[in-house]
Amino acid sequence: MGRAKKVVLAYSGGVDTSVCIPYLKQEWGVEEVITLAADLGQGDELEPIREKALKSGASESLVMDVRDSFIRDYAFPAIQANALYENRYPLGTALARPLIAKILVEVAEKYGADAIAHGCTGKGNDQVRFDVSTAALSPNLKILAPAREWGMSREETIAYGEKFGIPAPVKKSSPYSIDKNLLGRSIEAGILEDPTVEPPEEIYEMTKAITDTPNEPEYLEIGFDQGIPTTVNGEAKNPIELIETVNKIAGNHGIGRIDMIENRLVGIKSREIYESPAMIVLINAHRDLESLTLTADITQYKRGIEQTYTQMIYNGLWYSPLKAALDAFIHKTQERVSGTVRLKLFKGNAAIVGRKSENTLYTPDLATYGAEDQFDHKAAEGFIYVWGLPTRIWAQKEKEN
Ligand code: ARG
Repeated sequence: MGRAKKVVLAYSGGVDTSVCIPYLKQEWGVEEVITLAADLGQGDELEPIREKALKSGASESLVMDVRDSFIRDYAFPAIQANALYENRYPLGTALARPLIAKILVEVAEKYGADAIAHGCTGKGNDQVRFDVSTAALSPNLKILAPAREWGMSREETIAYGEKFGIPAPVKKSSPYSIDKNLLGRSIEAGILEDPTVEPPEEIYEMTKAITDTPNEPEYLEIGFDQGIPTTVNGEAKNPIELIETVNKIAGNHGIGRIDMIENRLVGIKSREIYESPAMIVLINAHRDLESLTLTADITQYKRGIEQTYTQMIYNGLWYSPLKAALDAFIHKTQERVSGTVRLKLFKGNAAIVGRKSENTLYTPDLATYGAEDQFDHKAAEGFIYVWGLPTRIWAQKEKEN
């Protein structure tokens, strides 16, 4: 008796997920493996991947283009939440996992499968995101993670695959572990494991080295409608185009490279390199527009919500009651976050140099130091007396003792 009869496997075309196919069948007695590759804009050719799954023993090989939903339903809410894990990582990898889990569950239901499977090892965050998302969407579905248990080295994995007709990688395989999609690239392992080593230039694809970026600054204008980016330099863009356009423009100026030591949920610190030009630009622009259109208390209160929200995304709790409740809060705050933000891109930096909104709460008559000043300066005196009263009383007591 196998662990499951029919399994839907998250499939990338790489060695590990390919080896999962014969492994599930041979070692764990699975009768039928259906593979599912998600198109998240990673730029891989998907037809060869589809065929490779069949050659590796899948009974059915599915490819789903989920790019639009990825941006609309996952990236845009993260932008509205200004979500940067540990203040830096815009969650490109983390945001894709709940979406992949969602389509795995949908396919499992459609095909009457009794389990889903993925190729994550036991050391990372992605296994948590797949497993918890699946549990939230279909609590009785089994989850199989062969690579968490098989204990094979890279060489052994390749050798195992070759026994079942899975070709060893043709190119000398990259020493790095890379995850990529429309939101950016996450790069780890190899020499990057030494935190003192500067990342070699060759690892980057979406961002230019500062030495190669234009010597003239470029202005970029992002338009937002209720917290959602909708235009680039005045031109309306659909979600996919918008991300692609901003990636290109900002990447050309070397914007969006991140080199950090990160705390994984499983307790390990890891050295991660990211390039995520659009998300960095869009989150910074969005946060700036909020500072123009939200009241002080919402702006400041929302920072705490954002921190929790960001951690929930990172820690695999996308589908959870607290996350849903925070979504409702964030959604409400975005009603007036419409307008445009102007940035000046130059040598790895996206400086915000202007912002405007019909809903601006910025009041020139109150803010000005010029003759038009409408602020009642005398009113400040009474306000400060009351505001400072508790401090004054405390200070008097201090003096007495
Ligand atoms: N550390 C990041 C995260 O947990 C990225 C992991 C990406 N995986 C990779 N194979 N590079 O979201």
